[in-house]
Amino acid sequence: MAKTSVGLDIGTHSIKVVALSRGDKSPKLISLGSIVSPMPGIISDTTADLEALADSIKKLMTAVKIDEKEVVVALPESKVFTRIIDDLPYLTDSELTSAIVYVSEEFIPMPLTEVNINWQVLARADKNNSVSSKSTKTIVLVVASPKKVTAKYVKVLSMVGLTPKALETETIAVTRSLVGNNPFSPSTLIIQFGSQTTDFATISKGLIWLTRSISSGGLSLTRSLAQHFNFEMSQAEEYKKVYGMRRDQLEGKVYEILKPILDIIVGEAKRVIQAYEAKYPADPIKRVVLSGGGAKMPGLVIYFAENLGLEVQDADPWYFIEKDKDLASKLANDASAYSVAVGLALRED
Ligand SMILES: Nc1ncnc2c1ncn2[C@@H]1O[C@H](COP(=O)(O)OP(=O)(O)OP(=O)(O)O)[C@@H](O)[C@H]1O
Ligand SMILES: [Mg+2]
Repeated sequence: MAKTSVGLDIGTHSIKVVALSRGDKSPKLISLGSIVSPMPGIISDTTADLEALADSIKKLMTAVKIDEKEVVVALPESKVFTRIIDDLPYLTDSELTSAIVYVSEEFIPMPLTEVNINWQVLARADKNNSVSSKSTKTIVLVVASPKKVTAKYVKVLSMVGLTPKALETETIAVTRSLVGNNPFSPSTLIIQFGSQTTDFATISKGLIWLTRSISSGGLSLTRSLAQHFNFEMSQAEEYKKVYGMRRDQLEGKVYEILKPILDIIVGEAKRVIQAYEAKYPADPIKRVVLSGGGAKMPGLVIYFAENLGLEVQDADPWYFIEKDKDLASKLANDASAYSVAVGLALRED
């Protein structure tokens, strides 16, 4: 029997929700929608702010007619610690747990008592094979989420009357919606353009190998335009959306103001690619996918293609999702903004 699966992406700029019908056949879109986040929204720790956020989520769920109470929610990449451990030999379950705790102490910059550690074994070394052979490594994806962060999400959801079916990182969600677990898809760098942050992830053979998050995002772009032109933020936002990185517009003035911030993002993309390729030289990055609300900026794909020298594409999380015609136009307008929400809704139980 088909059941409904709901993905909820609580961004600092907007909240996105997607409901999919999941049965034997390919997933089918039931409903989707977004609403502007109240300020300061999820960044805040005060009950009053979180109540305002909960009200917005309630409004959104009513508007899109979703009455499912269990939802899959994303934790922001900037708040969690993700690491691939790819050099372990064959280990028993208990040895593996000890090894993960040992490595976790190194890469998590806070006491382990303050985080929840989850891991996923991506590959298991064969007990009888020699450790030196490449195919026999044990590979584990470790995600540590600060308990304070997850508690805040659970609190907001309970204010709405929802319960989390699962909490997972934004990167895990976008990987599912944009690449899936196709082992033959080309090695990909996903750049997720949010409002507060831009997140990077390298994906190969359907697995996440490296993640990074920086605090230059769509908001920095808008702020910069507001300062330079002495605009209100809303007007700066309009300019960003209309002119973006189109050099031929307004004598390239908007382009020139946005460029230094985009160059920070391009620079980070290059460093991520370099770091990944230094570790996995046999498997270079072949394409870049631009995702998140900020990926809709005019001229962005060309700018990244020119600066990275790689094939650059817009994200399309709806590609494998069945949908009615009347929803199709709604989807086309802001496909990339839903990458996280679609990925969450695609999560298997
Ligand atoms: N057409 C457009 N051109 C340029 N930027 C855009 C466009 N549409 C949306 N944006 C920008 O995208 C950002 C919002 O994207 P998104 O909804 O992915 O963010 P968010 O999930 O709310 O933020 P975060 O993940 O950082 O908390 C805003 O900065 C917004 O200005
Ligand atoms: Mg986001």
